[in-house]
Amino acid sequence: MKPYTLMHKNIPVADLALDTASGVIISIGAVYEAAHAPVGVPAREGSMDRGSLNEWWRGRAIPASRSGIRAALSELGVSAPELLLEKCLGLSLSDQYWIRPAGSSLLWENVNFFDNPFSEDVGNILFGKEPGSAEISLMSPDNTSDGWLRKKWKIIDGKRCLIKGGSGAARQEPYNEALASRIMDRLDIPHVSYSLLLEEDYPYSVCEDFITPDTELISAWNIMKTAKKPNHVSVYRHYLDCCSRLGIGGAKDAVNRMLALDYLIVNEDRHLNNFGVVRRADTLEYIGAAPIYDSGTSLWFDRPLPMIHARAKAVCKPFKNSHDEQIRLVTDFSWLDFSALKGIDEELREIVKGSLFIDEARREALCQGLMDRLGMLEEAALLSTKQAYVERTEFDVAQDVAYSGGEDR
Ligand SMILES: Nc1ncnc2c1ncn2[C@@H]1O[C@H](COP(=O)(O)OP(=O)(O)OP(=O)(O)O)[C@@H](O)[C@H]1O
Ligand SMILES: [Mg+2]
Repeated sequence: MKPYTLMHKNIPVADLALDTASGVIISIGAVYEAAHAPVGVPAREGSMDRGSLNEWWRGRAIPASRSGIRAALSELGVSAPELLLEKCLGLSLSDQYWIRPAGSSLLWENVNFFDNPFSEDVGNILFGKEPGSAEISLMSPDNTSDGWLRKKWKIIDGKRCLIKGGSGAARQEPYNEALASRIMDRLDIPHVSYSLLLEEDYPYSVCEDFITPDTELISAWNIMKTAKKPNHVSVYRHYLDCCSRLGIGGAKDAVNRMLALDYLIVNEDRHLNNFGVVRRADTLEYIGAAPIYDSGTSLWFDRPLPMIHARAKAVCKPFKNSHDEQIRLVTDFSWLDFSALKGIDEELREIVKGSLFIDEARREALCQGLMDRLGMLEEAALLSTKQAYVERTEFDVAQDVAYSGGEDR
């Protein structure tokens, strides 16, 4: 057992005791700043919900489903990803929380990964590479990175960048990220820009950290935990209601854009931790929707060639069970300039050209599928003028996805 203080930058939030064998928070002591508790963790002056805080803390760790995690943990000599959290004081490059050892006078300025260098040992090991030095340093934001795909943070030209691999035989995710960025460039949708990196013929996507030392990302899942969802309220409505209760502007416009993109590229993994909002850490003031990130699990990324076509069966998240239902939630398409997407298939062709993983037949099937989806999106936009239909879909909870944090891969 080790005593710590949960910190939000330099603001002490609460004292806690961490079981160093399991990584579990076994007790919470004094609560100093309930308002600065992580969003979705119920807290009042004097008390904080330990179950929720543990869920939040566990959620900071690398998920057990991460590609390559077992081998990496064995090399690091650590039995579970939760135990890595303590090694980097729980610091991340997506928010401003950390734990300070009791009695220590450490300042956020001296430890945060935004301004201070960090070790790439964990990231290299996660990528199956040599750590780089004999003495492995565990002071790394990779210990607090979420998601299923192999990934690592790297400082490139002074900027914090996330490098992410692909999966399966086609390794399509990095190409998809690059295409989604181009689509959103053309449509003026606020997004994280992903570029393609080839290393030893393997594709990776690279994007800059969109969080700064002053801001933080809060996932939709955590936003939605700020209130209980009544059974008769749809997941979609609950999200917008929570945003409006918290004073987050522009949520509906941002969701409209995200759902239109996801319909076009057939995104199958827009779970509730794959979008969210940004707030200022110091003032707790919400800035608005986060730019769109993590759009790689799309365009039939894991399908064999014969299954690549616009009407292929596809998983749908985060609000409805089917893409055809979900697109009906879009209340406004007037911002969508279809002419800006002219020739988008050429752009995709260019992006995947030369890939050792995507042959010509797959490439052409993807381009055709994308153009057919574009046609379907135009039809959906035309249909949406029938407002009554939109409303029926919004309130129909029967078609809703199961309401959960979502990462079930
Ligand atoms: N550019 C970024 N800046 C800051 N934080 C980021 C950035 N990109 C991703 N993140 C954070 O890292 C997490 C994991 O990244 P990402 O969702 O891209 O990985 P993934 O492996 O594709 O995830 P999934 O398991 O959803 O497929 C995100 O949920 C988000 O919290
Ligand atoms: Mg993700």
